[in-house]
Order: sequence, then structure tokens, then C-alpha cells
Amino acid sequence: ATLDAGSLRTPIVAVLGHVDHGKTTLLDRIRGSAVQEGEAGAITQHIGATAVPLSTISEMAGALVDPTDFDLPGLLFIDTPGHHSFSTLRSRGGALADIAVLVVDVNDGFQPQTEEAINILKRTGTPFVVAANKVDTTPGWNPQQGEPIQQSLEKQSERATSRLNENLYELIGDLSGEGFSADFYWRVQDFQSNIGVVPLSAMTGEGIPDLLTVLMGLSQRYMKEEMSVDAGGPGVGTVLEVQDERGFGATLDVVLYDGVVREGDTVVVGGRDEPIVTEVRALLQPRPNAEIRAEKQFERVEEVRAAAGVKIAAPDLDEAMSGAPVRVVRGGDEAALEAVKREVR
Ligand code: GTP
Ligand code: NA
Ligand code: MG
Repeated sequence: ATLDAGSLRTPIVAVLGHVDHGKTTLLDRIRGSAVQEGEAGAITQHIGATAVPLSTISEMAGALVDPTDFDLPGLLFIDTPGHHSFSTLRSRGGALADIAVLVVDVNDGFQPQTEEAINILKRTGTPFVVAANKVDTTPGWNPQQGEPIQQSLEKQSERATSRLNENLYELIGDLSGEGFSADFYWRVQDFQSNIGVVPLSAMTGEGIPDLLTVLMGLSQRYMKEEMSVDAGGPGVGTVLEVQDERGFGATLDVVLYDGVVREGDTVVVGGRDEPIVTEVRALLQPRPNAEIRAEKQFERVEEVRAAAGVKIAAPDLDEAMSGAPVRVVRGGDEAALEAVKREVR
């Protein structure tokens, strides 16, 4: 495939961190919806995918992002739960990610699932940035809705700034204890050997322009080659969850990371006992900025290109497994089908 804009896929960004450190609130702020408020006990028990187009990112990031500097189409965020009992979902999110955001509550600092997330990122070799969240809870904080963080810092008292800095230096120290050289993101020259720390508030939105800028910059600079996909090739993805959908029966919530899937395609998906071979009956996609697990009204589409979150409706999915691979097989070739079945098993 040539490296034109049409064949560059969206980088997949996993959002990881300890329970209640603000992952879902951060994504809510970015997508302008309120998934977090709809959750039982405000605990995330699923992973969801949210596509955020470049136009939205550039709108939120304001002067920090010039959309003409980028040819990646946006970012696909995957929210993960922080509760200790959902480690499988965290690993799955980490394994899918091209890049990650580690969310840490600046007051709480490193906690058990922060460590767990770091271990996943080390194991998978995923580059990440740290969102030092909840800066607005610093005593004496003067909130600056949606502003870049350095602008906001200029408007804080000396006392508030030094309180925040104490917490931030502790965080940088904890990262160093894990073997990462980290610093405030604006001091980082090389994001491959240093971890950028972005102080922000998911609640007031200050610092979010910075986070989006860093994520776009990192992806564009270091991942452009990897984002070049075979735009028309057979779709490849991972099942996030198997869910019953009224009128469709068991459906697959899938993150597609390569190729394309179309209505009528033959797909092979990992099943409880053996690979399932079935035919796509419908592709249901949440609208941009809507989240796959929160959206009630899906848009029915004829095809979906990577990277994207998509719900696949097809017969015989009752035995499909979350975490399993999904692959499209095109051309009706029996040998190819058998080969894919062996891969998916
Ligand atoms: P799990 O999915 O359960 O791991 O939690 P989470 O990391 O997604 O945290 P969530 O977004 O559910 O937020 C937890 C609580 O922290 C909620 O009450 C949020 O309103 C609050 N919160 C999140 N971010 C901020 C922030 O920047 N400032 C303040 N003051 N509160 C925040
Ligand atoms: Na929570
Ligand atoms: Mg959450």
C-alpha cells in the first residue's frame, strides 16, 4: 500500500489506570458525552471504543493543533476498567494499543492498578504518556475551563503551584522507580526515551488540549509507517465483548485494526470449542464521538475500515469468545478458510 492519507489508519489509544483515577471522565470530556454518569456505581466494567476525528481534536486543542500538520485521521480511544478484578480487560486493551494514556490521580499517585498497567505497557512495549489527572483538586486551584495547562498554570497562586508540583515530582519519581525517565511533557525532546507527563483535569478540561496534541504528535512522528494499512484487504480485529442485541441475537463488539469488513463477508472468529465460520449480516457502527457500548441507536453501514470499533451481527455467534481474533476471508477459497481457522483457533 502507498503511504497516502487514504491508507493511514487511526492509531489505537488505550486509556489505562487505577480505579476512579478518571479514565472515563477524561474520555467523556473529549467526546462531550456522559458515559461515566450512566454507569452503575461509576465503575467501568467493559471496554469500549470511541473514534475521535481529527476535526474534533483540532477544535478542542485550539491553537496547539494545526490540522494541516497531520494526515492521520484521528484517534481511536479504548477505555478500560481500573477495578482490580478486570485484569483480563486491561491486558486486552493494552495488547490492542498502538499508544497508551496512563491516567494517574495527582493526589493519589501510584496505586496497585497503576503498577499493573505499567507492567502491561512494558510487556507489550507500548509507548505511553501520563495524564496527571485532577489538578483542579489542588487546594486553592483557580479553574481555567478547557485551557492549555501552561496558560492555566500562569493563573495559579504560588501556593497552589507548589502543591501541585510536589505531587507531580512524586509521580515523576515513581515513574523513575519503574525505570522510566519522565518529565513535564513540554521539557521532553525525545518521546521515545522519555515519558511525557501532562498535568490536566478531566473535570475542567484544562490540559486536555495538551494531551491531544502530544498524542497526535507522537502518533504522527513515530507511528506513521505502522499506521499504513492495506486499505482494501480482509479485515482483522479482536472481539472486545459478545453482547445480545435485540433483533440480532449474539453480536460481536470488535476493534478492527487492519483491512476492511463488509456486509456479506465470511468471517472466522474464535469460539469456545472451535473457530466459528459465519457471514456478516449487519455492521453496526456508533456515530463518531459516540461510544460503542453506550450508543443505543447504531448506524447500519455497508463497510468499516480499520481502525474502528464496530458491532458485527451474524448467525451462530453464541459460542464466540471475547478476546478472540476475528478475520475476514474473501474469495470463497477453501484452503484460505482452513488456514484462517488454524490461525484463529
Ligand atoms: P474505573 O473505570 O472504575 O476504573 O474509573 P475511572 O478511572 O474511569 O474514573 P471515573 O471517570 O469513573 O471517575 C471517578 C471519579 O473521579 C468520578 O466521581 C469523577 O467525577 C471524578 N473525577 C474524574 N476526573 C476528575 C477530575 O479531573 N477532577 C475532579 N475533581 N474529579 C474527577
Ligand atoms: Na470509576
Ligand atoms: Mg471508567
